[in-house]
This record gives sequence, C-alpha cells and structure tokens, in this order.
Amino acid sequence: MSGAAGGGAARVLVVGASGFCGRAAARALAEGGAEVLAHLRPDSPRRALAERAWGGLVGEGPGRVTPLERPWAELLAALPALGLTAACSFLGTTRAHARRGGGTYEDVDYGLNASLIDALAALPAPPLLVYLSAQGVEWARYSAYMRARERVEGLLARRALPFVVFRPGLLHDETRDERRAGEAAAAGLSRAAAAAARAVGARALADRVAPLTAREVGLATAAAVRRWGGAGEAGARAVWGVAELRAAGR
Ligand SMILES: NC(=O)c1ccc[n+]([C@@H]2O[C@H](COP(=O)([O-])OP(=O)(O)OC[C@H]3O[C@@H](n4cnc5c(N)ncnc54)[C@H](OP(=O)(O)O)[C@@H]3O)[C@@H](O)[C@H]2O)c1
Repeated sequence: MSGAAGGGAARVLVVGASGFCGRAAARALAEGGAEVLAHLRPDSPRRALAERAWGGLVGEGPGRVTPLERPWAELLAALPALGLTAACSFLGTTRAHARRGGGTYEDVDYGLNASLIDALAALPAPPLLVYLSAQGVEWARYSAYMRARERVEGLLARRALPFVVFRPGLLHDETRDERRAGEAAAAGLSRAAAAAARAVGARALADRVAPLTAREVGLATAAAVRRWGGAGEAGARAVWGVAELRAAGR
C-alpha cells in the first residue's frame, strides 16, 4: 500500500471501527501494513471490545491501529490534516439503537456518510472511499435502511471522489457481538443451502449463498485500498458484489 503522497504506508481512516465489520477491517488493514486511524465515537460502548479485537496491533504508525476518539464534527474538521490514502465507512444504526436514542437510518446511515463524503470530496486530493452498502440496494427502496444506502450511493456518483462500494448479502460469523436472532437464523439457512450446493459440486452457487464473514469484508477492504488507495481521481468507481468480495477476501 502506498501513502497519499506516494511511497510509504497507506494511512487509512476507518469509521464505524468499533462495529462487527469495522473491527475486522481495521485489523486486516493493519495486518497489511497500513497505518489505521480507527474512529470511535466518545463513550462508545464497544471501545474495549474493539481494542481486544485489535490486540497487539493497537499503537501508532504503519501496521498499527490507532484509536481516534472524537465527536463527529471534530473528526470532519480534522480531515484535511490527516493526509489520508483512503477512508472506509462501516457506520450503521439499527431500529433498536434508534429507539435507545442512537440515531435513525436518516441520521446515521445517510446523514453521517453524506457529511463524510462531502468533507472528503472537498479535499484537494480526495482519498479513496470504501463504503459498505448492501445487496439489492438498486431495487429495494422499500425500507428506510435501503433508501439510506441508495441515497449514499447516489451522492457518491455525483461527487468527484474515487470509491469502491461493497454490496454484500448476509454478513455473519461468531464475532457478531449483538444478538440479532433473525440474522442468525438467516445465516444458518444460507450455510445449509451452501453446504447442499457444495455437496453436489455447485461451488459457485455455494459461494454466492453462504454468508460473508467480517474477516472476508476486512480482507476485501485491504485489497481495495491496496489496489486503488492513493490513485486519486484516476482511481476506482467500482461496485463489488458478493462474488468480488469473496474473491478479494481470499
Ligand atoms: N450484517 C449484514 O448482513 C449487513 C449486510 C450489509 C450491510 N450491512 C450494514 O453495514 C453497516 C455495518 O454493519 P455492522 O454489522 O458492522 O454494524 P455494527 O456492528 O452495528 O457497527 C456499526 C458501527 O457504526 C457506529 N455508529 C453507530 N452510530 C454512530 C454515530 N451516531 N456516530 C458514530 N458512529 C456510530 C457504531 O459505533 P458504536 O459501536 O459506538 O455503537 C459501530 O462502530 C451497517 O449499516 C449494516 O446495516 C450489514
């Protein structure tokens, strides 16, 4: 990975770094040699969990994850000074979080990402943005969750910013810290379908239906940054679906 100014380690901001995918992405990026700035909101209930997931990688410099605890507005104001090669967004709320005052899909999944995109696009040399969206976003506008993602993708298309959009289907593995019964049940069914497909030699189908793991998302993030980080406007405007994510994560 090369730095924004060419040469040196990539410097990569991860937002949503305390979450299921963000923790794995920060780890995979640091293992790949990047200098990772892991944004945590002040008083994040998952700071300790995240630091445990990063273990001996917590620290400063290339190959390390540096926790960056800042209010959102302060993070945006600091962006010009960070010298980023790439930024990666794994932000998201849930209906349960929103009920507890954690912000709605409009506030978090759209609002925070939109403010990040605008702030990055305003930089003299906008870094690559890796954005975790969702499979089906191009047609499934029936929910506030999907609409938020569709609007973020629409904004990205209108801004002069290199990006890779991830559109995974189901994401699940044993590192998911929150109990989400519906997701766990769907993951069980998907795994069973993948095993049946594998049993009859249908490997491509098995790869399509098995849930992706957070580790696979993390490795795909590191692969995207390796490929396009620091390339500037000549860089990517790419969308990776399940097949590309699984291949990049191998
Ligand atoms: N699981 C799936 O099957 C799937 C598939 C496709 C896409 N996605 C979406 O991808 C995104 C990431 O997924 P995930 O499973 O990693 O989610 P997650 O574990 O809930 O992580 C969400 C992250 O966003 C942060 N966050 C939430 N509200 C914030 C706020 N107001 N300010 C700053 N940070 C905030 C959380 O911080 P705290 O830890 O401090 O709360 C956490 O770091 C979500 O939007 C999810 O819906 C999920």
